[in-house]
Amino acid sequence: MRIGILNSGGDCPGLNAVIHGVVGAAHQLGWEVIGFKDGFEGLLPPGDFKILKPSDTIGILKLGGTILGSTNKGHFAAKVGVGNVAEVPSQIIEKAKRTFDQMGISALIIVGGDGSLTTALQLYHAGWPIIGVPKTIDNDLSATAMTFGFDSAVTTVVDGLDRLNTTAESHKRVMVLEVMGRHAGWIALWGGIAGGANVILLPEIPFSLEKVADFIKDRDSRGHHASLIVIAEGAKMPSGDIVTVDSNKGGEVRLGGIGERVAEKLEALTGKDTRSCTLGHLQRGGAPTALDRILGMRFGVKAVKLAAEGAFGKMVSYQSYHVGSVPIEDAVNQLRLVEPDGEVVQAAKAVGICMGD
Ligand code: F6P
Repeated sequence: MRIGILNSGGDCPGLNAVIHGVVGAAHQLGWEVIGFKDGFEGLLPPGDFKILKPSDTIGILKLGGTILGSTNKGHFAAKVGVGNVAEVPSQIIEKAKRTFDQMGISALIIVGGDGSLTTALQLYHAGWPIIGVPKTIDNDLSATAMTFGFDSAVTTVVDGLDRLNTTAESHKRVMVLEVMGRHAGWIALWGGIAGGANVILLPEIPFSLEKVADFIKDRDSRGHHASLIVIAEGAKMPSGDIVTVDSNKGGEVRLGGIGERVAEKLEALTGKDTRSCTLGHLQRGGAPTALDRILGMRFGVKAVKLAAEGAFGKMVSYQSYHVGSVPIEDAVNQLRLVEPDGEVVQAAKAVGICMGD
């Protein structure tokens, strides 16, 4: 038996751990694994792939990025933004199916986020033997309690805040750290709490600049002259605007710049020296944490188990410390957002963190 695997969408620490899990588990069954390169693009004729032997995966568990490459653009994009589903052109699917059939592949494991899993679902509906594996540092897929990559991103945010804290204290400044989180503010919320942020601003909770400024001035008056603010890139300005870099031709709108905007406004409102810093792709790069290595590896092993059971159209899912599965159909287009009155936000407020509301 031969199975295929591809990564699609933005990369994420732990992708190589999934490949490690898939290749290891498949090898035990005597199966061959074909790794398609650069996402779905590798499926197009003549096919861009490599045979993945266990010897190819030695040491990759701990490596960031993906040995297969990935893309969040290309011929198979089925989605730009939430809810805007487009059909992948049928001639593209047919072309890719020819490569797939000629290679005699019995199952295709697709590791991707909401957009890539939407494409995966379309391929499944077109008759392909698809298994999904969820991937996103934003941790915003509702059908899985956690995705690998999230813990690594949060760890990077915490490291960033620890560093910003010392310089903020030295200069009695306000530091604004912009982090990833397109629709959901999980990275900002978890990273902010763990990194000792005083203010956390999320896409899910509208904020008032005046309230944040008053909070900072109050801290100042009580002798806390430095303040740390974490803001998710997808948070909206009080006017309702999201802040973008450009339209990222053919893909999702590129978010970025809200940290700088908020810093400027807060400096004017508080009179305090304020600086902003954008963490950007540092959150996506680098080695996965131990948690993400283990989660990724378990996801890969489970994907092979699902392939062995012929459970096509299913996606690996993590719930209550257990790796199980759900229909891909239930996983796409259902974002898991931070609940503004949820337990984590309440806990943050209980320890004195300002959420801007
Ligand atoms: O969806 C994951 C994510 O990291 C978002 O938080 C971010 O907006 C986006 O990817 C960035 O993508 P790109 O690599 O295209 O800049």
